[in-house]
Amino acid sequence: MSEAKNGVFSSDEKAFSQKEYTELARALISEKYPEAAPKAFVHTYGCQGNVADSERIKGMLDELGYEFTDSPETADFVLFNTCAVREHAEDRVFGNVGALKPVKTEKRDMIIALCGCMMQQPHIAEKIKKSYPFVNLVFGTFAISVFPELMYKTLRGGKRIFEITEKNEPIAEGVPVKRDSSFKAWLPIMYGCNNFCTYCIVPYVRGRERSRKADDIIAEAKEIIAGGAKEITLLGQNVNSYGKNSEDGINFPKLLKMLGELDGDFKLRFMTSHPKDCTKELLDAMASCSKADRHLHLPFQSGNNRVLKAMNRGYTREKYLELINYAKEVMPDISITSDIIVGFPGETYEEFLDTVSLIKEVKFTSLFTFIFSPRKGTKAAEMPDPVPYAEKSRWFTELLRTQEQIAAERSKKMIGKIYEVLIESETKEKNGLLTGRTGGNINIDFPGDKELIGTYRKVKVTEAKNWLLSGELV
Ligand code: SAH
Ligand code: SF4
Ligand code: F3S
Repeated sequence: MSEAKNGVFSSDEKAFSQKEYTELARALISEKYPEAAPKAFVHTYGCQGNVADSERIKGMLDELGYEFTDSPETADFVLFNTCAVREHAEDRVFGNVGALKPVKTEKRDMIIALCGCMMQQPHIAEKIKKSYPFVNLVFGTFAISVFPELMYKTLRGGKRIFEITEKNEPIAEGVPVKRDSSFKAWLPIMYGCNNFCTYCIVPYVRGRERSRKADDIIAEAKEIIAGGAKEITLLGQNVNSYGKNSEDGINFPKLLKMLGELDGDFKLRFMTSHPKDCTKELLDAMASCSKADRHLHLPFQSGNNRVLKAMNRGYTREKYLELINYAKEVMPDISITSDIIVGFPGETYEEFLDTVSLIKEVKFTSLFTFIFSPRKGTKAAEMPDPVPYAEKSRWFTELLRTQEQIAAERSKKMIGKIYEVLIESETKEKNGLLTGRTGGNINIDFPGDKELIGTYRKVKVTEAKNWLLSGELV
């Protein structure tokens, strides 16, 4: 850390371990806040990988002596963990950071910090440096495990800290975790991505693919199960390539099997699967694992082979459909979801229609659909993109309409059937209803006691309005 390229750390400074930095920072904190524990507000943008990172940062904040608050106005420390995947995500961050300026003017010793994928881009860090002088600390995705050190140096005062160096270091294990939920847990099995899909910023901001050791993953899973969690979601940008080149020869299907053999009353999920690396071996492993939920998130992005090639996805429509058919064959009750990009540079309306025909053929449970957003530094951002945004929006609406019909048909077929759901929360409207999620990742609302949240129960579907399902406990 001491030789940080951007020169924030003086090189003759003694390097402490993160444990020692935690102690040093704790001492500063009790000096600075003698009356009551300071409060931290952490907000996360982006994918579950970012949520999992935030849970680790919160674990470290907890060790530093912070308590947590839901409002930035009452916080002594505000952290935004940011996402760079689309422009919209970045705009929201700038908006929300800007809104903190008057709060900070009122509360001078508030610490404002930004981290995550967006900060890992030098042009963004530069913009924060220049235009947001009230931000105290900026760190990228490679610096999460040295958070205690960054906090110590920030609390000590002086220069603002920018730590966005890309590092090729082994994965830091043993970082404390403060999980958001008591009954569902995120479990990262790998970091980074090697695929360089031409539209995607992730490989640039998350670095090369690195898998955690199976022993470390299993140890964390055991801890999660002992803590009472009912659902574990294994995370990675491309979980299907887990363990590639690993010495112990444990690939993803093997890892899934090992986790499925652990004792306890829990279910396993995983995301994201990549069609390029998704194998029949994996689908077989999933089918024979009684703890694996019958849900496969398998993004196809486009149903047209020319576009898939331009995206550098590494599979064809035919190969994708072959996988889907095999999954349905070995798991007839499988629920499949996907991600789609509309309006990739150079995509024609006819090519877009191949995407529409694919969703009609597969009948996905649900879709995450995005209009192409050019990301600085990616290949696709340099490609000619003649179709105007308004036209892409029309295609997008057409796609949504088609999917709504598919979902409505599926919902209708669910009426009268009984599903086991993990009860997650009260409904957003808080109208005495609870929301439960099936193994296939479909929500059902039903009347019930809040005490049931975090448990599995059987629910019968009684009504379907479009894709919204209502039911009753059996
Ligand atoms: N690793 C995962 C996806 C990570 S990003 C995978 O390969 O499937 C989540 C989704 O965001 C992607 O699947 C893609 O549909 C979308 N996405 C990524 N970059 C995008 C961009 N530049 N514009 C629009 N959507 C994008
Ligand atoms: Fe991005 Fe492709 Fe990697 Fe997914 S697999 S994170 S879309 S580069
Ligand atoms: Fe966003 Fe980074 Fe995830 S760019 S989608 S938070 S890996």
